[in-house]
Amino acid sequence: MKLTEKFGLAAMHCMDPETAHGMSIRALKAGLAPAPGPLTTPRLKTSLAGLNLPNPVGLAAGFDKNGEVLAPLSRAGFGFIEVGAVTPRPQPGNPKPRLFRLTEDKAAINRFGFNNEGMEVMAKRLADRPQNAVIGLNLGANKDSEDRAGDFVKVLAHCAPHLDFATVNVSSPNTEKLRDLQGKAALSALLSGVIETRDALPRPLPVFLKIAPDLTDAELQDIAEVARETRVDAVIATNTTLSRDGLRSSHKGETGGLSGAPLFEKSTRVLARLSQLTEGDIPLIGVGGISCAEQAYAKICAGASAVQFYTAMVYCGISLAADIANGLDKLLACDDFDNVAQAVGSKREDWL
Ligand SMILES: Cc1cc2nc3c(=O)[nH]c(=O)nc-3n(C[C@H](O)[C@H](O)[C@H](O)COP(=O)(O)O)c2cc1C
Repeated sequence: MKLTEKFGLAAMHCMDPETAHGMSIRALKAGLAPAPGPLTTPRLKTSLAGLNLPNPVGLAAGFDKNGEVLAPLSRAGFGFIEVGAVTPRPQPGNPKPRLFRLTEDKAAINRFGFNNEGMEVMAKRLADRPQNAVIGLNLGANKDSEDRAGDFVKVLAHCAPHLDFATVNVSSPNTEKLRDLQGKAALSALLSGVIETRDALPRPLPVFLKIAPDLTDAELQDIAEVARETRVDAVIATNTTLSRDGLRSSHKGETGGLSGAPLFEKSTRVLARLSQLTEGDIPLIGVGGISCAEQAYAKICAGASAVQFYTAMVYCGISLAADIANGLDKLLACDDFDNVAQAVGSKREDWL
């Protein structure tokens, strides 16, 4: 991390977390961010559900909820970027405060509740997107919607012309009853509708499903079955957790989804189990608690074809994207892998 980034982070940690997040978006807009460009090597280059990624290290949903900093993010070293969540209509989200730093635990709790400017604003920003980046959108449903499944379809249909992939997010804990859509019958109906809409697009794009880490094994088995039947293109494991095990920080009692270091083990176990259940039929994206190249590599060896992170940026800055990608290249070389794909699932058994 450069000294300027270190000072910037220290200053932001004196502010309340949501104000600090707004500052980091403004800093990116102003060009105050590292720009190593699309970081790639022959070993890091990989493909995911038909997408060609310069490297497998992605930005997780929730950082750029409204697609405000697509260009600076595309230069920050990420192999792919997921923006959103976006809902059909704009909505304010939950009352503030709704984002908490758990510094001792290197974690965060958020209960934003899909605050966003809506799909029309997002589509306009996406229309100006950098073309040399892989950009996807996290689809959400309005809190007061009568037809949540229909909301996913609406956002997909509206924004698809500008996207490389879209993610059905039924795993946010901050919209009441959203997670119920992970149940077998509801999920099957929802995904079938989304895939049908996708198939009818002039330029079909891969559709991913993002799941929670707090699922029982029976629920995971159902999800694996539905994912295979409906032929989603990839599954992202995982979103934030409701668990509060082992936390020390004073904010540990806040309601919302916990992300960051304490999520690493739990989300990696879910990833490995899903890899076992899907037998390599569906590519998996590992997310949850990654803060260094070793952890990104561990997720890949547990079964992920690519990874994403968010919370570690709060503590280590955006230069972490390039650090993780560079470190991953070295770790693959150390283990004599010629490319990322060869390492996928190579140590899955360690997590089962
Ligand atoms: C402030 C915040 C907002 C988030 N918003 C979303 C969201 O809108 N959609 C989504 O699928 N995940 C969202 N997430 C979850 C992240 O994408 C990611 O799955 C989770 O934080 C675990 O990764 P991490 O430990 O690297 O942060 C959010 C996370 C945080 C911390």
